[in-house]
Amino acid sequence: MTMQERLSIPTSSYADGGVKRMLIDGQFIEAVAGATFESRNPATGALLAHVAEGDGTDIDRAVASARRAFDDGRWSRMKPFDRQTILSRFADLVESRHEEIACLDTLDMGSPLVRTLGNRRRAVGMARFYAGLTTALRGETIDNSIPGEFFTYTLHEPVGVVGAIIPWNNPHIAFIWKVGAALSAGCTVVLKPAEEASLTALLLGEMLLEAGLPAGVVNVVPGRGEVAGAALAQHPDVDQIAFTGSTATGQAILRASAGNLKKVTLELGGKSPNIVFSDADLERAVPGAAMAAFVNSGQVCSAGTRLFVDRSIYEEFVERVAEFGRSLLIGNGLDEETQLGPVVSQAQLDRVTGYFTIGRDEGATVLSGGVRLVEGELAQGYFVAPTVFSNVRDEMRVARDEIFGPVISAIPFDGSDDLIARANATTFGLGAGLWTRDIGRAHTFARAIRSGSVWINCYNQMDPAVPFGGYKMSGYGREGGVRHVEEFLNIKSVWIRTD
Ligand code: NAI
Ligand code: MG
Repeated sequence: MTMQERLSIPTSSYADGGVKRMLIDGQFIEAVAGATFESRNPATGALLAHVAEGDGTDIDRAVASARRAFDDGRWSRMKPFDRQTILSRFADLVESRHEEIACLDTLDMGSPLVRTLGNRRRAVGMARFYAGLTTALRGETIDNSIPGEFFTYTLHEPVGVVGAIIPWNNPHIAFIWKVGAALSAGCTVVLKPAEEASLTALLLGEMLLEAGLPAGVVNVVPGRGEVAGAALAQHPDVDQIAFTGSTATGQAILRASAGNLKKVTLELGGKSPNIVFSDADLERAVPGAAMAAFVNSGQVCSAGTRLFVDRSIYEEFVERVAEFGRSLLIGNGLDEETQLGPVVSQAQLDRVTGYFTIGRDEGATVLSGGVRLVEGELAQGYFVAPTVFSNVRDEMRVARDEIFGPVISAIPFDGSDDLIARANATTFGLGAGLWTRDIGRAHTFARAIRSGSVWINCYNQMDPAVPFGGYKMSGYGREGGVRHVEEFLNIKSVWIRTD
């Protein structure tokens, strides 16, 4: 019996093999050109749906819909209490139907059901967090020093039409994160989900309508990145792009945004250092270091993939991490025992197995994994073994490139090394981990590491109220936290002569 069967989770109608339409102006409609693309389960190859494939024409229609919805004030000038009521109803729907949402993500992109279901608290928490913020927005009055009597205050106003472009590695979370913050600011949205995992975006769009969101406030247009995504990024009537994905695509979006100088926030890739000192609680650090990189089959932007280990414990520690990886159960995400599912696509499989070869050619030692898994039913999907490379040197590609698979590059360090400089010697700056019982060292590192999040004696903790984002080429802008909504606000200063 699968976990889905045991919990009696209904398979969403979005995975019934039929045609799934895009959401524009409150209606589910076909692409103007009539095109569709297939959505398949990466664990089995099974067909889930034919998804309407948007192009520039569909993006034009969706942007026009979002523009009308913004300009007539049906959302931006709705009373904050009423916006909050609608977003709270949406949060209730996410809560009551979370099993269906989680299962749809599992079918569409492969992540184990135990994990997608485990995101319930975060998904519901984010939806409630952004609902709450709608009534917490405010400008300020400011004392000025110019001669005469002048009263000055600020208005914080929604930026306008937001193009949200999200990846496939955490689909329902990415949707609620981006759309929730933009909506609480009073913006309207055109969301382009990833072609690998579009289905929960359509389901969540439907749930927003059910919650009472006015037509046109959120539009969902599936399609290819270079077509629909690019059309959104360069669109002259889009005021802001909120993007999560690869650094290369982030750069393309930034270039495309120059035409109308739209505002851009970017949450990009990483190659995050995870540092283990010999004084750490190793019983925690072993599984912590393993899952920092293996969770979601390594398809996590902040994965702790550069594992620096104190040389005095290096061999034993790295072998224990490798053993942890060997013990993980890999399979179809619908099975209760499954801890790691497949990677999302043939392209990701090729990329990850390509790095197995690159690492070997560079002279790294494969301690565990390093292969595609093809026994029995695994042959139908894109499964790879959790992999630990040891004897990695800083300059190797497996120590520098974002692989986006379950791959750890383990690197020894000595007390005499400039460890902070080595940890920071990357173009990225998204996450960092540190395992030690020395509180002084922990704080020193937390300050010295150039990344948007630092986890000490833990890894990848996330909460709606805590900001998340990048330094350096991991992007800019913060998601989560009360300031997230400010990313979607313009500040206007008002001067009144009062004498
Ligand atoms: P991607 O960055 O190309 O795709 C992310 C989103 O951007 C998707 O919705 C895609 O359709 C869209 N997109 C692609 N090209 C676009 C363009 N020119 N203009 C506008 N939107 C565009 O990532 P992809 O191709 O899925 O994966 C490639 C690699 O990127 C992965 O192996 C991984 O290393 C990295 N990646 C990082 C993520 C992160 O969260 N940091 C998420 C996804 C991928
Ligand atoms: Mg791509």
